[in-house]
Amino acid sequence: MHPMLNIAMRAARGAGNVISRAFENVDKIEVEAKGGNDLVTNVDRQAEQIIIDTIRKSYPDHSIVSEECGELPGKNSDYQWIIDPLDGTANFVKGIPHFAVSIALKVKGKLDQAVIYDPIRGELFTASRGKGAQLNNVRVRVTAQKELAGTILATGFPHKQKHHTEAYLGMFNDLFMNSADIRRAGSAALDLAYVAAGRVDAFWELGLRPWDTAAGELMVIEAGGLVTDVTGGHNHSKSGNIVAANPRILKELLTQIRPHLTATMK
Ligand code: IPD
Ligand code: CA
Ligand code: CA
Repeated sequence: MHPMLNIAMRAARGAGNVISRAFENVDKIEVEAKGGNDLVTNVDRQAEQIIIDTIRKSYPDHSIVSEECGELPGKNSDYQWIIDPLDGTANFVKGIPHFAVSIALKVKGKLDQAVIYDPIRGELFTASRGKGAQLNNVRVRVTAQKELAGTILATGFPHKQKHHTEAYLGMFNDLFMNSADIRRAGSAALDLAYVAAGRVDAFWELGLRPWDTAAGELMVIEAGGLVTDVTGGHNHSKSGNIVAANPRILKELLTQIRPHLTATMK
């Protein structure tokens, strides 16, 4: 196993232990509104510190970008860790047991290692570039679904960009009418991990940030899936508008989305 994946797993488990312990006393969690329907808690920050300390102990020169503390430049910018210490904070605060730690490593700008850890279910999703994706050390693959009809899709509502609501609901309507059903579970990292594990056939969301999607993107690709922006291009880490799917249904999915795209979504 790649030594940097090992450190990422150690960091994710350390953060996961703090998160699951805190989850036993949700009423003691200190919640802060970051603005625009975006929350952060003392547990997000504690988890983030554990992850950063674990990484820095082994790789003090690496760069880090993490949701709550932002950019931490390192002497060696070839290595950049992208961290969401607690993806699904709103679920966590509400006592809904569906959230994860998400850690990705980019080497010279390319996604190289990824860990998504669900501390409640004890599910550790991992991926290394060129080595496939695993769930608790068992290989996972995207579904082989050949058409949109009959698929179960995952999504997130644009709760931080409500100006996209009309366009988004147009996409939702057309995708819902052409698939079997849609899930909105509240953790983009787990949504992507579930695409990789074949639990859902595809995922799309508008307005995500690199720390929401970096680890999940590598996981989907290593599980045989494709990740694009909403036009089928590769601008998703900038636009935040992402589609992840098994290759057979991506084209049909983008066709349903296309009529609802606005200029700012591309
Ligand atoms: C959020 C979750 C949610 C998605 C939001 C993200 P956070 O991450 O991934 O599912 O819809 O856009 O911001 O804020 O809980 O880390
Ligand atoms: Ca997130
Ligand atoms: Ca977060």
